[in-house]
Amino acid sequence: CSPSAYECFTINCVTFPSPACMPEQQLLKPSEWSYCDYFWADKKDPQGNGCITGFEVLLQKQLKGKQMQKEMAEFIRERIKIEEEYAKNLSKLSQIPLASQEEGTLGEAWAQLKKSLADEAEVHLKFSSKLQSEVEKPFLTFRENFKKDMKRLDHHIADLRKQMVGRYAAVEKARKALSDRQKELELKTQQLEIKLSNKIEEDIKKARRKSTQAGDDLMRCVDLYNQSQSKWFEEMVTTSLELERLEVERVEMIRQHLCQYTTLRHETDMFNQSTMEPVDQLLQCVDPTKDRETWVRENKTGEIRPVDIEI
Ligand SMILES: *[C@@H]1O[C@H](CO)[C@@H](O)[C@H](O)[C@H]1NC(C)=O
Ligand SMILES: *[C@@H]1O[C@H](CO)[C@@H](O)[C@H](O)[C@H]1NC(C)=O
Ligand SMILES: *[C@@H]1O[C@H](CO)[C@@H](O)[C@H](O)[C@H]1NC(C)=O
Ligand SMILES: *[C@@H]1O[C@H](CO)[C@@H](O)[C@H](O)[C@H]1NC(C)=O
Repeated sequence: CSPSAYECFTINCVTFPSPACMPEQQLLKPSEWSYCDYFWADKKDPQGNGCITGFEVLLQKQLKGKQMQKEMAEFIRERIKIEEEYAKNLSKLSQIPLASQEEGTLGEAWAQLKKSLADEAEVHLKFSSKLQSEVEKPFLTFRENFKKDMKRLDHHIADLRKQMVGRYAAVEKARKALSDRQKELELKTQQLEIKLSNKIEEDIKKARRKSTQAGDDLMRCVDLYNQSQSKWFEEMVTTSLELERLEVERVEMIRQHLCQYTTLRHETDMFNQSTMEPVDQLLQCVDPTKDRETWVRENKTGEIRPVDIEI
């Protein structure tokens, strides 16, 4: 099944094999779901009249990916703000002097509990600052000139498509010209059958020459079109593989930093718990009897008991 004018069809100036030839085509990267295998046709623009090319579908995916990453950074920023505010509130509360005069072992436990709020605040602050440096910031560092690069690729591929359109139009024109020349030759041949004449024989020679010329022209136009399409094809493959690589990188990068988020969050829980340990220890040492003893020792007013009057 060799592609010829009858075994191919052309959509938007891209030439595809007709279904009869399909079994011959194999994916460039079988079983990889590679970008380079699935975006050859144009697609109806979902929100309107025109068409978008397969390549534009890929570019839109890239731009959306960049936007999603930016929005994730924004989300993490909000998460950071909550931690900071929470830490501020805890730290403020730990400094309020309520019940600061409680005494004895109970007083110590109470003081430690208040201090634990400051420790907890510290934990939350550390969490928020690590979120900032280890999650938010990496999300915000995009590869430089990303949008410009995408635009450049877009123009590059679009220019190649434009060239194909021009050369396809030339093919059509040459095809029409050839068909006209052939008709002319046929006409002359018929005339000659009716009436032999030197003039007509001359005309036939001329028409045959013109027809051959038109055939050569068509071949030349097809050749140029083929070259153009083949260049477009190559650029599509290399560029879509490049976009594919960038997307794998993006997903992997985001995954890694979200893992970092969960790690930091787990750590926060652990530190958070550790701020409670000294409080728990002191609470176990709270001893009302001992507290009474201490307090009595310090505040006693006299141990000689009164007695009855004796006369
Ligand atoms: C911090 O305290 C303020 C009021 O003092 C309150 O409106 C806010 O919700 C608190 N924030 C957090 C995260 O606990
Ligand atoms: C155009 O390309 C086809 C397929 O590669 C090839 O068979 C044909 O000879 C080419 N035609 C010209 C005129 O180059
Ligand atoms: C830290 O522990 C306190 C209770 O001690 C809890 O209310 C708070 O939600 C915990 N914070 C985190 C981030 O685990
Ligand atoms: C009890 O004794 C302590 C230590 O001498 C003292 O600071 C405190 O004011 C006393 N309490 C009263 C009610 O006098």
